Amino acid sequence: MLVVFEKFLWFVLLFVSIYFCIIVCLSSIDRYYTKSTHIGLERNYHFWNTTLPSLTICPMERLDNTLFADYCRKNGIKGPEKAIFWDFLENLANSTYVNFQNIPQSDQIDQIIKDIGLKPEHYMEVIYNLTVDSTYTPSEVNRTRCVDGQTFIHVRQVLTEYGLCYLGNSRLGEKYSSRYLIFGKYPEFNKYEHERRLIQYLEGSFFEKDVQYTLMGFSSPALDSYIHSAFEVMKVDTNFGYTTDGVVYDPISKEITADDNLERQVT
Ligand SMILES: *[C@@H]1O[C@H](CO)[C@@H](O)[C@H](O)[C@H]1NC(C)=O
Ligand SMILES: *[C@@H]1O[C@H](CO)[C@@H](O)[C@H](O)[C@H]1NC(C)=O
Ligand SMILES: *[C@@H]1O[C@H](CO)[C@@H](O)[C@H](O)[C@H]1NC(C)=O
Ligand SMILES: *[C@@H]1O[C@H](CO)[C@@H](O)[C@H](O)[C@H]1NC(C)=O
Repeated sequence: MLVVFEKFLWFVLLFVSIYFCIIVCLSSIDRYYTKSTHIGLERNYHFWNTTLPSLTICPMERLDNTLFADYCRKNGIKGPEKAIFWDFLENLANSTYVNFQNIPQSDQIDQIIKDIGLKPEHYMEVIYNLTVDSTYTPSEVNRTRCVDGQTFIHVRQVLTEYGLCYLGNSRLGEKYSSRYLIFGKYPEFNKYEHERRLIQYLEGSFFEKDVQYTLMGFSSPALDSYIHSAFEVMKVDTNFGYTTDGVVYDPISKEITADDNLERQVT
């Protein structure tokens, strides 16, 4: 009796497994005929536009002599006090994490600040007021400008950890500008930039051999430069050091992995 029962059980199990095997096969065939999916990847390098990196440049000489003289005249700062006050403000404008200890301290400075009623919360405003935004300089040779051939690329003055600097080729909004950060107002219309074709940022694709721009027109003999993504603000760890000469940066994109001469050799 038990043998017969066992045989029957095995027969049922075999039958059930064959049944489900056929069901699964049929549903696969059905899916193949009725629900097929095509996955394709289009790789057209010609359309891979990349924004060139931004450049932030901080002039190491900050305040403007004429504006400072005016400010001293209005506030009655004269003689030796003027030199002391200049030294204080210039170092304050140039101060950042690494050089806070350079800001001069003395009773004389405290006295001057007290006399003119200058409060610490207004230091940045005074520095801003005594700094010329050189992107508005009428003379083109002395204007801070960013160019690619005959095209202007927008440059703006920004407030950073390193004081007032200039930013070119950025995709950030106009709220990232010194005027907006200090006074809450958008930068004034720059008619000089609109004298030629103006773009906000420069793009290049893998196939263009030569995409470049130049940021120039600084009166300060020493400059501090930072390169960063056009989508970001300047970062202290991308500092390229002080320079007194013109500098050429040659950024290389590591995102595109390809053989040399790929664009000419592949079919
Ligand atoms: C890439 O840039 C080129 C040149 O500026 C432009 O003609 C083209 O339309 C851009 N392509 C895309 C996909 O934005
Ligand atoms: C500004 O600070 C840097 C150090 O961060 C220093 O090398 C430079 O000489 C300073 N510039 C002036 C004008 O004091
Ligand atoms: C800076 O200049 C603005 C506009 O000219 C003026 O309203 C403001 O009082 C000045 N700030 C200081 C601290 O002198
Ligand atoms: C540009 O600046 C230099 C140095 O500050 C000055 O000598 C020259 O006259 C300026 N050029 C113009 C056209 O204003």
